[in-house]
Amino acid sequence: MKSTASAPAKVILFGEHFVVYDIKSILCAIDKRVKVTSTTTDEKKIFIKSSMGQILWDLSNPKQEIKSSFKPFAHIAKKLIDEFNHEGGLEITISSDIPSGVGLGSSSACCVAVAGSVSGLFTKYSKEKILELAIQGEQTVFENVSGADTTVSTFGGIIEYNKKTGYTKLDVDTDFHLIIANSKQTHSTHKIVSKVNEFKKNNSEVFLSLCKKESELVEQVKKSLAEKDLQSLGENMKTNQEYLETIGISNDKLRLMLSVANKTSFGAKITGAGGGGCIIALTDEANMENTIKDLQKNNFDCFSAKIDTRGLDTF
Ligand code: MEV
Repeated sequence: MKSTASAPAKVILFGEHFVVYDIKSILCAIDKRVKVTSTTTDEKKIFIKSSMGQILWDLSNPKQEIKSSFKPFAHIAKKLIDEFNHEGGLEITISSDIPSGVGLGSSSACCVAVAGSVSGLFTKYSKEKILELAIQGEQTVFENVSGADTTVSTFGGIIEYNKKTGYTKLDVDTDFHLIIANSKQTHSTHKIVSKVNEFKKNNSEVFLSLCKKESELVEQVKKSLAEKDLQSLGENMKTNQEYLETIGISNDKLRLMLSVANKTSFGAKITGAGGGGCIIALTDEANMENTIKDLQKNNFDCFSAKIDTRGLDTF
């Protein structure tokens, strides 16, 4: 038996970190994907491989600890083996064109694709059920995860997301382009979220006031999107970046990238956990090429991303 699924990367347009504390965020799935193929095997083992490495989990040894970035995927696979009383094991192959550890949701997309691919060996789950499994996988590494990244990867498009109330798809027909520039500084989302939590503990009033401001900003953003006002959206991005600077997730390289991108685009900000990773810049047809050229002239790796409307695909 064989089953394949693929899921897209994401960018957070507005609200990273604050979303962990129940503030609404806005995310967009983008056209970079991870593909996962699973096959059933006779031996009671879970074997997972990708270009980044491999793990073998012998299921007859319940005490074996998985110390690998593949832990969430192994957890999802084991849960499904138990759920469907599968007597044997699984071989899972991951191939991805999403850069990892730079804020584009590679691990979340992989959780979604693993849940879609492995469940497809046994049944046909709804996207909602697959998302639930993907979030449980992510929680094995980082209990307080918001679920925003896995949600947009499952459903695709542009969504607004709240940890408590879930997601709503936004019907956006604004003609914009996103330029994504990669600092090539990898990060651990979990560590940066913990650092923000420290900031919150030591600066509770400042953090509370930022949460309120971010909430108001997201409402403003929805208006700018509906009015197709790219100028305002760019300003909204710069404002969001100020909040991200305050909570301490920026650094000199990111600030340099942002200042280059801000010269020609409508506005730019960090996307995802920060502390490295990527920035996004908002452009249209007219200023896209210049923004890319300026970033490249300064030796920053960048590309223009398209919106992915498919989300999770199973086949
Ligand atoms: C990471 O892509 C986004 C964060 O807001 C964490 C989360 O939402 O769980 C930093």
